[in-house]
Amino acid sequence: MRKKIALIGGGQIGQILAMLAAQKELGDIVILDIPELENPAKGKALDLMEMAPHGNYDANITGTSDYKDIAGADVVIVTAGKPRQAGMTREDLLAVNLDIITKVAAGVKANAPEAFCIIVTNPLDAMVYAFYKLTGFPKSRVIGMAGTLDTARWRAFIAMELGVSVTDVAGTVLGGHGPDMVPLPRLTTVGGVPLTDIAAKEQIDRLATRTREAGTEIVKLFGKGSAFFSPAWSAIVIAESYLKDKRRVLPCAALCEGEYGVQGLFIGVPCLVGAKGMEKIYEIKLDDGEKAMLQKTIGVVRKTVEETKL
Ligand code: NAI
Ligand code: 2OP
Repeated sequence: MRKKIALIGGGQIGQILAMLAAQKELGDIVILDIPELENPAKGKALDLMEMAPHGNYDANITGTSDYKDIAGADVVIVTAGKPRQAGMTREDLLAVNLDIITKVAAGVKANAPEAFCIIVTNPLDAMVYAFYKLTGFPKSRVIGMAGTLDTARWRAFIAMELGVSVTDVAGTVLGGHGPDMVPLPRLTTVGGVPLTDIAAKEQIDRLATRTREAGTEIVKLFGKGSAFFSPAWSAIVIAESYLKDKRRVLPCAALCEGEYGVQGLFIGVPCLVGAKGMEKIYEIKLDDGEKAMLQKTIGVVRKTVEETKL
């Protein structure tokens, strides 16, 4: 029997998620949106079914606004919520998206209580915390997608600047999904060569700043809405690692209970994602400067989480 993937939110990211999940044959796909957008969700699903002969995939893809249709889902990916507009911070979305996540958590809890859940909605670190609290699901089955995207951006900018293949750039970005996130140049390599040996400090600092501001750079270019291709791919990478037990080590927002000195917050940290979900958090030995930057981003996440009052 095929696996089942429920996409809660069928907007910009949701529709790309559906296309990627279909192309990768991860399973059958349900796109769920609000009742007013049930027909567009059905239309996107039908369009993807009609793409299958050329896309060469087998999957049942449906659209709905009824949570009963996500019953038995193996994976739930939540993008339901408002995206940023120019001039807005991710935190500006807190009130409206907390209301949406509250409804989504109830629907998922009642209908797909065994699913591995990937939250994408912003402000990410607070929304994944809210979803975890509201569902009561175990921490192994609730994860936030942000570090996977932030790290992809860091790697992409390095490759673009140095003129090398992006596949040879390895590195990670820790912390919250905001301008205080922590790219780690000291641990970034290009084909095994330390980045710090081949790029000047000013160049590295500029690339780190661009990474921290990457979401905002896209929002400014779009004028309306935020990035969707790279966020979708980043969430699919996590889903695929779970569904195929690939056991990838991916930077994700995971519940820290003592790791990195953090208690009870979802923070972007390297996670092993396998068949049991978020199976393990790896702790990196940080230097003093990196520790200070991590403390700053943790403080920002704590403040936003406190505003959820959960
Ligand atoms: P979008 O506006 O295109 O799509 C959101 C969809 O959610 C809409 O179709 C809307 O009708 C639906 N929705 C709203 N309330 C709902 C509910 N109660 N139940 C089901 N569906 C509901 O937005 P987009 O571009 O897809 O972004 C989605 C979210 O992802 C935003 O909050 C955005 O800020 C966030 N985001 C997060 C990133 C990350 O790295 N974590 C990266 C990029 C965006
Ligand atoms: C991004 O980083 C806005 O969080 C969204 O693209």
